[in-house]
Order: sequence, then structure tokens, then C-alpha cells
Amino acid sequence: GSTEGIVIAIDGPSGSGKSSTSKGVAKARGLRYLDTGAMYRALTWWMLDNGVDVHDPAAVAAAVERPVIEMGTDPASPTISVDGRDVAVEIRTKEVTGNVSAVSAVPEARALLVRTQRAVIDAARRESAGIVVEGRDITTVVAPEAPVKLFLTASAEARAQRRSREIHTGDVAATQADLARRDRLDSSRAHSPLKRTADATELDTTGMTLDEVIALVVTLVDEAAATV
Ligand code: DC
Repeated sequence: GSTEGIVIAIDGPSGSGKSSTSKGVAKARGLRYLDTGAMYRALTWWMLDNGVDVHDPAAVAAAVERPVIEMGTDPASPTISVDGRDVAVEIRTKEVTGNVSAVSAVPEARALLVRTQRAVIDAARRESAGIVVEGRDITTVVAPEAPVKLFLTASAEARAQRRSREIHTGDVAATQADLARRDRLDSSRAHSPLKRTADATELDTTGMTLDEVIALVVTLVDEAAATV
């Protein structure tokens, strides 16, 4: 009955509150934290920086092994680097955000990152640490055996408002259109699309504060830890 080695898998669309919730839960229970979206963003940043045509799946597939992507899993200061360079700022640009769905639709890119993600999870568990992992295919592909599986949602308006605050824009309508486009691509792709499995708990966070969502998820984690 403890959180030692527990895996908490969280999926959901952009702006559903996954990152803030995952970090908050990890901090509250002394767990590691892995943002898999940051890895797809880092790979996309590297492709753009190296002149790879991200809309050519064969070109993306041929290049996926070249960059070395590394993550730090401390929820208080998660880090991401490519070939030793800190890319935390670079991966949040509009250019990366606009191209990440194309790169993440390529099966070879997914296979490589899923392998890396499982290695991070295994490393945490070898140290008896629990870990919160968030993304689009964590409950379905990366860690389907996780004892806690959550699917976070929120209304399109609520998600656009949150994301607009994060990126400091007043143009909520444009942000909403942007999110809708990315969600459509991420949910309709052939390989590991975003979808809720029957055994994932759906949590609609519209109208909830972040603290309320964190408290609720911590309760679910504690319940699962009591039974493992
Ligand atoms: O969570 P995010 O918005 O930073 O993710 C960026 C993109 O990466 C998202 O549009 C889809 C992709 N992604 C994915 O395909 N699979 C994951 N597990 C995480 C993210």
C-alpha cells in the first residue's frame, strides 16, 4: 500500500489541464513527472532546425534516430534537451506547435519515443519511484497496465481560455480554432490516435479549479496505492 513504483497515466486534448494537473499530483505525492508532448515537440524542433521536411513522412522516418532527446523528471523543474541543448523555450514556439501533429503522425517517430518513454518509466520504477506520465496515448499504448488511468477533458471554450492565458494572448477565438485543428489531427491519425479507453476514468474539468482537479486525482492515486 504505497505509491512506490506506481504509474499514473493521463491522456486528453490540448488545454484539458493535463500538464498542470500532472505536475501538481506528482509534487503532492513525491512522484516523477514525464511530459511526453514535450518529446514530440523536441523531435519536431530538431526536424525544423535541421531542414527536414516535416510533411514528408519518409524524410521524418529516416531522421528520427539522429537527435538525442533527454528528459529530467522532477515535477518542480522538468527539463528537456536535444543533443545536450536545453530546448524548453524553443519547443513552445508557434512554429513547433503548428508542425508537431505532422511529426507525431509518423509511426517511426512514435515507435522511437514510446521506447524512450517506457525506458524512463522503467528507470523510475527501478528506483522505486512512482511516476505521472501525460500525453495522448499513455493509457492506450505507452502504459495500458497503469493502475490509474485518466482521460481529462474540458469544454472547447474552457480549453481555449486556459491556453490563451498560458501563451499570453487575448485572441481566444484564434486559440480555440488552433486547438480544434490540432485535436482533429491528433484524434484522427491512423497510429495511436487520442482516444479514451473503456477502463480510463473520464474527468471533465470544465468549471473546476486546478486545485480541485489535483485534489480529486490525488484521492484516486491514494486509493490505487492502497490496493497495490
Ligand atoms: O501535450 P502537447 O500539446 O505539448 O503535445 C504536443 C503534440 O504532441 C500534440 O499535438 C500531439 C503530440 N503528442 C502525441 O502524439 N502523443 C503524445 N503522447 C503526446 C503528444
